[in-house]
Amino acid sequence: MATIEWSSRFELGIPEIDEQHRSLVGLAGKFYETLASGSGTAELARTVEELVDYAWLHFSEEEKYFTIYNLPDFESHKAGHEEFIRTIREFAGRIDSPSPALANEVMYFLISWIHRHIGRDDRVLLRITRRARIRTGSSSEDDKAPPEDGGRA
Ligand SMILES: [Fe+2]
Repeated sequence: MATIEWSSRFELGIPEIDEQHRSLVGLAGKFYETLASGSGTAELARTVEELVDYAWLHFSEEEKYFTIYNLPDFESHKAGHEEFIRTIREFAGRIDSPSPALANEVMYFLISWIHRHIGRDDRVLLRITRRARIRTGSSSEDDKAPPEDGGRA
């Protein structure tokens, strides 16, 4: 069975956000595995709710940073969060008749969203630490900071 796993290349070096991303990926993986292992509808519904509740919490934290630090592309970033919630809710509406095809669809969506959003779009949050360093006059960490494009440029 395929899995959805955390990768160190998603790390931003911002402990609070990294921890939340790690939890979000963990809950996404749990949803997929519950679906793929043929668990009952009640357990699936619980897993979906857990994922959606946590996603709301995490996305609102991130959106707070966008406002506080005036980060760019707020609207499109927020749309990425809404897409996640909306798609998971759509899947939740179909868990009464789980199938391997649905499990595959869920896995494909989760993996592509995680890579596109956490692996790429969320790297704009690195500006928080860069701005904090500029304010404090510290530059010693500059070489260690991961690039905003995830090192793929
Ligand atoms: Fe985000």
